[in-house]
Amino acid sequence: MQVLTLVTTSKQRVLSGIQPTGDSMQLGNYLGAVRNWVDMQDEFDAYYCVVDLHAITLDPPEPEALRQRTRIVTAQLLAAGLNPDRCALFVQSHLAEHPQLSWVLECLTGFGEANRMTQFKDKSAKSGVDRQGVGLFTYPILQAADILLYQANYVPVGEDQRQHLELTRTLAQRFNTRYGQTFVVPDAYIPKAAAKILDLQEPSAKMSKSRADAGTIYLSDDPATITKKIKRAVTDADGEIRYDPEAKPGLSNLLTIHAAFTDSTPAKVADDFAGQGYGHLKAAVAEAVIAFAEPFAARTGELLADPAELDRILAHGAAKARAVASATCIDAYAKVGFLPPSGPPATTDRPEQGGQQSAGAVG
Ligand code: TRP
Repeated sequence: MQVLTLVTTSKQRVLSGIQPTGDSMQLGNYLGAVRNWVDMQDEFDAYYCVVDLHAITLDPPEPEALRQRTRIVTAQLLAAGLNPDRCALFVQSHLAEHPQLSWVLECLTGFGEANRMTQFKDKSAKSGVDRQGVGLFTYPILQAADILLYQANYVPVGEDQRQHLELTRTLAQRFNTRYGQTFVVPDAYIPKAAAKILDLQEPSAKMSKSRADAGTIYLSDDPATITKKIKRAVTDADGEIRYDPEAKPGLSNLLTIHAAFTDSTPAKVADDFAGQGYGHLKAAVAEAVIAFAEPFAARTGELLADPAELDRILAHGAAKARAVASATCIDAYAKVGFLPPSGPPATTDRPEQGGQQSAGAVG
């Protein structure tokens, strides 16, 4: 019995977040991130957050659209294989602790430090810094709060989030140094099996919702649309099927997609299709994507047909999340010196944490 307890509490904790933008997750997001979240549910004590607060930092959607997108991304995460009994799946705005901790972290962040975030520069460049809401500027600090509230050991993120994770580590260390050991200093987690999927029309860029539709496959696309997009994918003129991401990025991207759905490797897929035409390969890639996307869309549709059940699942997730986030936030607020709202002094006891402190934590 004691051994069992030890085993369950020694799991490392992971936290990741996904924005409820758009009406469907895209293929690159699924293969690059979400699929790994599913795999991590058992090995880790996993927390997955639909970050709706972040979704209003740039071009805030209509309120009804935001509600619907939050339900859609939740349904898609469940359809992808997240199991609400094996992870905590919750919505960021359900926990007031996120903005609560974010405020304290904002006060610990230098203006210049925040101003160095390249994602802010990229996103604000479009319409000019002066026209952006301050929320876009403080976005990475809210993200730090998302992570630190859960005492996460690892944060599965892509390359584009590395700088935000660095800031998170810096803020955790700064708080710990100033107020005493409070936060686990998290590490980035680069999953072994993460596939980097590129835009079908512009294979120099990552596939992304913010790019043109023709280069992005949405998991909600119907089979005819998927086939059309893959058929039109940019390749090259030499006609040879070979895995060479440098010289043949478009073709290699198709091999990567095929491999991801057939439990193979791009090089092996290249061998299998060697000597055949690009058209033949493209048809096979479309078939492999559709074999996944069709049942996935059906399952998502079933889940969306019962919004009350989705909301119940999210309430369950929020309760799990709150058990950890609330304790961390009370502890952090007490350490800063905020007077506890009522009753005896706030306890600094925290619930069991996932594993030991990361290296770099300052006591
Ligand atoms: N910024 C992340 C992205 O764009 C989303 C995010 C918000 C996140 N909070 C997080 C990711 C916490 C990991 C952990 O993908």
